[in-house]
Order: sequence, then C-alpha cells, then structure tokens
Amino acid sequence: MTDPLTTADSAPCVLITGGAQRLGLHCAQRLVEDGYRVMITCRHLRPQWLSAPLPGIEVIEADFSTVAGVQALIDRLDARQIRLRALIHNASAWMADDTCGEAFQQMFAVHMQAPYLLNQAARRWFVPDQPADIIHMTDYVAQRGARHIAYAATKAGLESLTLSFAAALAPQIKVNSIAPSLILFNEDDDAAYRAKALAKSALGIEPGPEVVYQAVRYLLDNPYVTGSCLELNGGRNLR
Ligand SMILES: NC(=O)c1ccc[n+]([C@@H]2O[C@H](COP(=O)([O-])OP(=O)(O)OC[C@H]3O[C@@H](n4cnc5c(N)ncnc54)[C@H](OP(=O)(O)O)[C@@H]3O)[C@@H](O)[C@H]2O)c1
Repeated sequence: MTDPLTTADSAPCVLITGGAQRLGLHCAQRLVEDGYRVMITCRHLRPQWLSAPLPGIEVIEADFSTVAGVQALIDRLDARQIRLRALIHNASAWMADDTCGEAFQQMFAVHMQAPYLLNQAARRWFVPDQPADIIHMTDYVAQRGARHIAYAATKAGLESLTLSFAAALAPQIKVNSIAPSLILFNEDDDAAYRAKALAKSALGIEPGPEVVYQAVRYLLDNPYVTGSCLELNGGRNLR
C-alpha cells in the first residue's frame, strides 16, 4: 500500500496535533467545512474510522513522549514535502503531580518539547510570502499557577515558546496562543464537579468547542496579531 505521506501535495494544509477527539477534532472538521486541507496527529487510530473515515481529514500517527517520536513525525512530513498554512499545537497530557518526576517529564515532552522541535522544523514547511500561523493551545492556569503544578508549569512553558517563536519567526509566521479555561467537560465529570467548575467563571457556562474554533479563525484571519495570548475563559479572571 502506498504511504500517502510520501507524495508531495499542492494545497497548503492545517496540521493539528492531538486532533482525534474533542476540541482538536471539532476544529479539524470546521476547517474542512471552511475549505481548508487538514491533517491531524494522534497516538492511536480510532476503530470507528475503519467503518466511518473522517471526511476530508488525513490522520498521521505520532507520539510525542520522546524526541524520537517527534523526529519520526518531522521525517515523515519532510519526506512528503508538506506545505503548511497553519500548525496548531493542540496535543495535551493531563497527569496529577507525583514525586518521581514522571508526570512532569511526560507533560514537558508533550506541551513544550514537541512544539519546540516541530516549530523549528516548520520554518521550512510554510510557503514563503503566504499567510502562516502557529497556534499553541495553552490553559488559563498557565499564567496563574494551579494546584496541578506540573501541568500549569508546562503549559506556562508553552506560553513562553509563543513569545520566543513569535519574535524568531516574524514577519513570515505569526505565533500566538489560546488559553482556555473550561470549554468541554469530560464524560465522567460528575454533577458536583460540573457545578463547581461552572461557578468559577463570570459567564458560568460550558461553551463547547465552537468558541475554540472562533478563536482559531480570529488568529488565522487577522494579519496583525503575533506573540499574543487569546484568553478564552468566560470571565474566570473576574471571580
Ligand atoms: N477541554 C477543555 O475544557 C480545555 C480547557 C483548558 C485547556 N484545554 C486545552 O485545549 C486543548 C484541547 O483540549 P481537549 O480537551 O480536546 O484535549 P484532549 O481531549 O485531552 O485531547 C488531547 C490529545 O492529545 C493527544 N496526546 C496526549 N498525549 C500525547 C502524546 N504523548 N503524544 C501525542 N499526542 C498526545 C491525545 O491523542 P490520542 O487520543 O490520540 O492519544 C489527545 O487526543 C489541549 O491542549 C488542552 O490542554 C482544554
């Protein structure tokens, strides 16, 4: 079987890491609806895609737990001579703090190391003199700290990468972050957790993934924003 990633493509695409579910998948599907070519990465192909492939979305397996895993993705994209319109770093790990360093290591690898390596490689993937964006999905807690120290710290590291890469890649590539607080509950969040989470923001709603897509589109469409963090938190900072 031919590897679809070994042939060069013409139309630039949007690459979303960790895009197989929830916010990443919603953005991928909305971008397809709006006429973009889209690729997503995931660690595991979903069994349901065998009977119902994702329309218009190419799926690439990639695991960012190690440098070798990130490099394998970079090599595949180089071999394909990929041309990018945008790179959205959406992949994220959530682990409770521990005392052995494993959680910190894993979240560092996904939230900071993988974007750091991919952004350096991405310089050669964007099309000269065409709109080009890198978007980092961070978190409300990145700028405020949180009970989950390693998670907040590694998301804060990603916010820092936004600033450094925005300076380094200007004027060709805009680099921004989106810092959400509650967007979408997990299925197993119980009623008490949901009520407590909703009460943290002034607007008090679970907005759903479309607000993330609206933020992504704002950053893609606006030519004068780089090195910024778009807060998406329903007024959580007001409480
Ligand atoms: N949902 C919210 O309310 C909320 C709030 C604040 C911030 N955010 C941020 O918004 C983004 C999307 O949120 P979400 O809730 O849709 O995320 P999610 O459901 O947790 O999905 C994140 C994806 O990251 C991928 N991933 C995890 N570890 C990985 C690794 N080692 N290598 C490669 N990929 C890995 C997973 O891919 P596989 O499933 O294929 O393993 C997963 O699908 C995340 O960056 C998150 O931190 C979300």
